[in-house]
Amino acid sequence: MEGVFVSDLIQPIRERSKFADRVYVFDTTLRDGEQTPGVCFTLDEKIEIARKLDQLGVDVIEAGFPVNSDDETNTIKMIKNLGLKSKICGLARCVIGDVDACLKANVDRVHIFIATSDIHLKYKLKMDEAKALEQAIATTDYVKAHGLECEFSCEDATRTPVERLLRFYKSVEQHGADVHNVPDTVGVMEPEAMFGLITTLRSSLKKPISMHCHNDFGLAVANTLAGIKAGAAQMHVTVNGLGERAGNASLEQAVTALMTMYRVNTGIKLNLLTEASKLVERCSMIKLTPNFPIVGDNSFAHEAGIHVHGVLAKAESYEPLTPEMVGQKRRIVMGKHTGKHAVANFVSEKYNLTDEQIKAVGEKIRCLTINKKKITENDVTALVEGVLGSIAEAEKVVKLDEILVVTGNKITPTASVQLTLKDRKMVAAGVGTGPVDALSRAIQSALGEEIKLLNYRLEAISGGTDSLCTVEVVVEDREGNTAMGMAVGGDIVMASVFALMESLNRIYGKRIEKKGN
Ligand code: KIV
Ligand code: ZN
Repeated sequence: MEGVFVSDLIQPIRERSKFADRVYVFDTTLRDGEQTPGVCFTLDEKIEIARKLDQLGVDVIEAGFPVNSDDETNTIKMIKNLGLKSKICGLARCVIGDVDACLKANVDRVHIFIATSDIHLKYKLKMDEAKALEQAIATTDYVKAHGLECEFSCEDATRTPVERLLRFYKSVEQHGADVHNVPDTVGVMEPEAMFGLITTLRSSLKKPISMHCHNDFGLAVANTLAGIKAGAAQMHVTVNGLGERAGNASLEQAVTALMTMYRVNTGIKLNLLTEASKLVERCSMIKLTPNFPIVGDNSFAHEAGIHVHGVLAKAESYEPLTPEMVGQKRRIVMGKHTGKHAVANFVSEKYNLTDEQIKAVGEKIRCLTINKKKITENDVTALVEGVLGSIAEAEKVVKLDEILVVTGNKITPTASVQLTLKDRKMVAAGVGTGPVDALSRAIQSALGEEIKLLNYRLEAISGGTDSLCTVEVVVEDREGNTAMGMAVGGDIVMASVFALMESLNRIYGKRIEKKGN
């Protein structure tokens, strides 16, 4: 597969697995995903998400649990009325009233469930196995009598004795159930056990088997794939792995692994994954960790020097997939681990700079990485622009040797500076309305002249309190000479001083030029 650089060691696994020809993707972001603590989608958000899932190519959208409320029923009905290609499914307990609510919502498929493990039967349902089986059969009959697709789940299947599971699944199959879903409700399985369980179920059942794995031990995707390797033909997933407690198997991870590592067909358009993830991130207000696989901000970001060098030389050295394949972009990030040479290589490959300028940018980056965790390409661009726009050290008439600024809530902002003007050292102090004002006054006092600040502009380049900022100033001296200065840095006060010093040097430059004329 083009753009995929996974291990050759997977080949024998591909050959001996019992993959279905096509694996169906059942998305439950709007149902199990909405059960994530703190998540509540609005009607508009549910519609937007359903449309995106449909675009993505999801086969079934579990749009909610209709019996929850009339609002929920109506929302599901509205989603159904969008006329999407994906089938719309509603969840129901093995209770006739729940199925009636699904019928009202006009769904294509009803996903019925009843708990089958000892612990759930005894403490939650307070029911024996025979009664639960009777309800499962009656509800299957009811769904099928209304001409709908019926997907049946033994809740807590993975803590239910296998013989009992088979009794339930075989019985509902005889009554017309279309899909057997196997929920690992509390995420207590591991891949080999899951492979064994699905192999056993498959050998006794005719209808397709579906996986529904929770992530309590971080194994939801691995368990889902193990079931698929044993022949399950459908998987329940959620965008960003949302879901009860630690969540469900992530759609992005399960689908991408299945399609690229195992080369199994699903109808998913991988290049829309990042877009879908961002949408759900915004609607759920659950921020993805940067290292979330496939769609996380760091999934295709490279920092360390050797890695950046490798990636720039041949991307697959450090990328198992091309970022474009999953709708991502490669990002080169400078940070604490970025070596001097890597910075120089990176900067010189992207910008046309002299050796001295490359060194200056490199030094600025290294200084910044002490305080700022990561430096993006935008930051580097700003630093390069700052260096390109700055005056070479040798041409500076006035140089800043030392500064000290004190500010606080019960103190007048005070600054002291030591400058060198030509070969003369000059020291002065000043107070002001803020630290930058105090510094500007101290500098003017040291130079013994008044300089008017005509313009001062401060702009943050990237978000966060450790963002880089650009400062631009325009100053005017008593002779009417004006000049601009610009500086980039992580410290607002220092960037302001550097911009000011630059503008002063330009003023002195102008004066020298005039005298020369
Ligand atoms: O995790 C679970 O058991 C469920 C059921 C409703 C299938 O979500
Ligand atoms: Zn679940």
